Amino acid sequence: MPATVSSSAQQVPHSRIRELAEIAMSMDGVLKLYFGESNVPTPEYIKRAAYKAMADGYTFYTENAGLPSLRQKLAEHYQQLHGVALDPASEIVITASGVQALNVGIRCALDPGDEALALTPAWPNGSANVALANAVAREIPHVLRGQRYGVDFDALEAALTSRTRLLVYTSPSNPLGWVATQEEQAGLLDFARRHELWLLADEVYERLYYRTAKLGEPAPSILRLATRDDAVMVVQSFSKSYCMTGWRVGWLVARRDLARKAAQLNEFIVSHAPSFAQRAAETALVWGEGELRKMLARLKENRDFCLAALRKMPGVTVPEPEGAFYVFPKIEGLTDSFDFCRRLLEQTCVGLAPGVAFGAGGEGALRLCYAAERTILEPALERLGLFLPSFPPIASRS
Ligand SMILES: Cc1ncc(COP(=O)(O)O)c(C=O)c1O
Repeated sequence: MPATVSSSAQQVPHSRIRELAEIAMSMDGVLKLYFGESNVPTPEYIKRAAYKAMADGYTFYTENAGLPSLRQKLAEHYQQLHGVALDPASEIVITASGVQALNVGIRCALDPGDEALALTPAWPNGSANVALANAVAREIPHVLRGQRYGVDFDALEAALTSRTRLLVYTSPSNPLGWVATQEEQAGLLDFARRHELWLLADEVYERLYYRTAKLGEPAPSILRLATRDDAVMVVQSFSKSYCMTGWRVGWLVARRDLARKAAQLNEFIVSHAPSFAQRAAETALVWGEGELRKMLARLKENRDFCLAALRKMPGVTVPEPEGAFYVFPKIEGLTDSFDFCRRLLEQTCVGLAPGVAFGAGGEGALRLCYAAERTILEPALERLGLFLPSFPPIASRS
């Protein structure tokens, strides 16, 4: 038998966001709104902290669970932001990004053949990591009730099987901007407890939250409701709050047994996050609040600008996102969002992510990341507005 790529690796689906992005990367002059990142560079004070860390000798291996000083600062951060006490030595693991936290967390919760429930539309890496663990993701779409998305608890109950071990959700959500209310969090926690499941909350957009009296307050973490003995884990990252997407530093908060195992498995996956990047992340935590608030004010303005522009377009419905930095407009009559995005890209040089990339409930919509500058958002929305009337179901109405 010739050597082949394993069938279990073959069955991990491609990211359709990446597929669209790869077409865009072969073109010039694209207004890039398909990835979840801003075009604002990492703030200088964080870069300087990395240079200093290298000069100070942070160029060697660190602990698999990450630098104790960074874990300590994260524990203080949880105390300040959420009033939650965490043991930095046993409940926090530094990872080489949010997606690596997702990977190792899921790997520790699932055996081959197990099933995971995932609330969608969602960033595809959650379900893809379930597939990477040789398990099966069952996607449960959020339901739109009036102007707000909610959780379909009946569908969750109906999707349970004897192999279900995990429930994954993202709040604030990518792509919906939905933020779980305290009642929804309590419902998810109760569901996980009753059915003895792991509950994985992806909270990487926690700091990008707009439904607060004061910008800068975090979206409430599930850790406020759960006890440290609950089978709960939280995936986190420095990427979004501190414009550090290329640095690859994240973390996992988990019950002690899972956290210990995740730290050990890190040895065989990446060993640890880069040493000097971990030091720079400490600086981001300590000094980042001012920049974060400025970024939030700009993001909120961008969100409102995009909502107003989209709501003027025929056939477009878009609920107000409560967090993260995406709008997810639904286009009436759209049945192939990938084809729509490819044509939009080729004809207008506007790069959006197709809704189909986000799993069940995503088809028929487009995702636009509004973390870009206004000089990009304004022409992109103008071109989308001009392109839409050529879209058959909308053209046939006018
Ligand atoms: C919901 C969600 N979780 C996790 C991540 C991972 O971010 P990173 O791997 O850059 O830390 C992303 C990035 O887009 C995301 O959207």
